[in-house]
Amino acid sequence: MSHAPVGIPDASVVPGRLLAISDLHVSHPRNRRWVADLPPGSPGDWLLVVGDLAEKVEDIEWTLRTLRSRYGTVVWVPGNHDLWAHPRDPVKLRGEARYQHLVALCRELGIITPEDPYPVWTGDGGPAVIVPLFLLYDYTFRPDGTSTKAEALDLAYRTGVIGADERHLHPDPYPSREAWCQARIDATLPRLTAIDPELPTILVSHFPLTREPTRILRYPVFAQWCGTEQTADWHRRFRARTVVYGHLHIPRTTFEGGVRFEEVSLGYPYEQDRHPERPRQLIPILPPGPARTLGPPPADGSVHPPGR
Ligand SMILES: [Fe+2]
Ligand SMILES: [Fe+2]
Repeated sequence: MSHAPVGIPDASVVPGRLLAISDLHVSHPRNRRWVADLPPGSPGDWLLVVGDLAEKVEDIEWTLRTLRSRYGTVVWVPGNHDLWAHPRDPVKLRGEARYQHLVALCRELGIITPEDPYPVWTGDGGPAVIVPLFLLYDYTFRPDGTSTKAEALDLAYRTGVIGADERHLHPDPYPSREAWCQARIDATLPRLTAIDPELPTILVSHFPLTREPTRILRYPVFAQWCGTEQTADWHRRFRARTVVYGHLHIPRTTFEGGVRFEEVSLGYPYEQDRHPERPRQLIPILPPGPARTLGPPPADGSVHPPGR
């Protein structure tokens, strides 16, 4: 397989399909096996890897290396789990330093990150600028009846539904996760504005860019760990053909203002068992596949899986 420099896909290869997957969570052996068993794509296939690969750097590296060996071009964005400083990970880096460590790992492997020039997909359904985003969240997806971060967090603690990020996702050197989020938005906006206005985009973010997909969370209070209101109009403003995201573990297709939104998570084994109607597969982004709707509710009567 030829390896073009990071950010510059090999132009000599005929483009195939633009595919996506997120929330591989390979610390679960069944998910790790699923990744190990993925058949190689054609050299022209691109794979968007949309965060939450694992908690340990060693497992993240195994996953990225495995995927890179199977797909001509791989694009990665971090999820919250990838950025955790988990007590079981011997790599003790936190916050921005951990993110930069993973970016350096991707560069070594020839994988495109949010820090690289945005590549252009010229295959079927293109051209479209592929925009890997790392934005995080700022607690503005507030539960009903709350109007500040403090009230939203307080409600979460009283309900007992608390994002594990509160324990494991450290924002160093920023004073808070929302400050880190703001820095990411400030750094990203000028780059988005500079994209050729003639070209549509594929916006790729672990966290959903709008509040809408979180409306069906079983625990609505969890939405505060899912995104920021500051990106609510980015799909229109930056000409998205599709917004690709994960994090919610509710794989499906939705439309907002005519723009397609694809939640591409694999999710945990227990969620897969609970929803056998959801095929475990790489999701075609371009050319697009059929829209995926939620299947019937599981036998225990719960309507939706909990958010992650
Ligand atoms: Fe996840
Ligand atoms: Fe996540």
